[in-house]
Amino acid sequence: MSEPEVEKLQVGVLGCGPISQAAHFDALAKASNAELYAICDVAQDLRSNVAAAYGPTACYGNYDEMLDDPNVQAVIIATSDPFHVPASLDAISAGKHVLCEKPAAISVREVLDLGEAVKASGLVYHVGHMKRYDAGIQSAREFVENEIGEILGFKGWYCDSTHRYQVTDAVQPKIQKSINSKRPADDPKANLARYYMLAHGSHLIDIARYLVGEIVEVDAKLTKRFGAYSWFIDTLFADGFHGHLNLTVPVRMDWHEGFEIFGENGSVIAKTYNPWLFKSTDVEIFRERDASTIKPLGADGHFYRRQVEGFAAAVFGKEPENSSKIDDAIASVRTMSAISQSVLTKRPVRVADAMGEIR
Ligand SMILES: NC(=O)c1ccc[n+]([C@@H]2O[C@H](COP(=O)([O-])OP(=O)(O)OC[C@H]3O[C@@H](n4cnc5c(N)ncnc54)[C@H](O)[C@@H]3O)[C@@H](O)[C@H]2O)c1
Repeated sequence: MSEPEVEKLQVGVLGCGPISQAAHFDALAKASNAELYAICDVAQDLRSNVAAAYGPTACYGNYDEMLDDPNVQAVIIATSDPFHVPASLDAISAGKHVLCEKPAAISVREVLDLGEAVKASGLVYHVGHMKRYDAGIQSAREFVENEIGEILGFKGWYCDSTHRYQVTDAVQPKIQKSINSKRPADDPKANLARYYMLAHGSHLIDIARYLVGEIVEVDAKLTKRFGAYSWFIDTLFADGFHGHLNLTVPVRMDWHEGFEIFGENGSVIAKTYNPWLFKSTDVEIFRERDASTIKPLGADGHFYRRQVEGFAAAVFGKEPENSSKIDDAIASVRTMSAISQSVLTKRPVRVADAMGEIR
């Protein structure tokens, strides 16, 4: 008997750069409910290489033309950060659902404008905080939801490694680059503190919020030494408990990421791997009631495929409980802004008041 036909979301990918080559094209090739329909990149050489490897139905050098294609139901925006909001707004105007890479935006002002457009459109907008699709992290969240009781404290750390490129070069497909790629006018790496906060801080903040709820206030300190950056961030969560976030880039050791949650009925200790290893977080969940620990195996570590499947499910009317939507995007950008402001003023900053630049 043949397999029943499954409706597959027809996706156009904007940007054929490293993240698309290492994650999104493979995710779409393997997704159960979505497929690559079109690609778009101004760089003709990249387009050709990707088309040869993944065989999209349509190839575009012009984003407006891809958005005009009625067969494109949704877009993945995989461009450099400053293009995320303009590209998301264009897609929404064209009536396309959006899965946009993180960070959703590079300023509070623009994420708020985006929020208005998304909410008025009724379209699905997800931001690529793909760690929410890490099965280990999801099991920690389930324990928090269902069993942990009151939370006493949270610690999260995200330390990208000096050796990250040796690891990614070893495990990713060979990444094709092009001198014809569209780049922002200002080099995003000219201000490394800002670049690291947007690239990595966005993950750290999102996972803390996903696990234990809204961050309402931050008190942040930044140390810069030998080209490395380390933020120590005291956090107050909406539920009234305190926490701590550490972002260190690059750390002089292997990738070092994880969290600890201390609760009334148990605790969680987690070690997260370099995402390019496609290995779910190791989570130890200790239950006070029987004084025992469980370690769930998240065998499927393809966070990016799971993410696009979640996105397609949302478009088809089954919004996943863990998806990162526009309000998560706004909260993430606001929290990064609050951290910047706190570093600058050396004072605690309420996230709801944060409007300033991410520096
Ligand atoms: N979630 C993750 O794990 C993860 C990991 C790495 C990168 N990222 C994010 O992915 C994003 C993209 O990263 P990258 O390194 O692939 O970027 P990149 O800038 O190297 O590549 C983007 C490509 O998009 C094309 N492009 C941009 N605007 C275009 C337009 N209007 N029309 C046609 N083509 C256009 C460029 O020509 C370029 O080839 C970044 O925001 C980054 O933060 C996420």
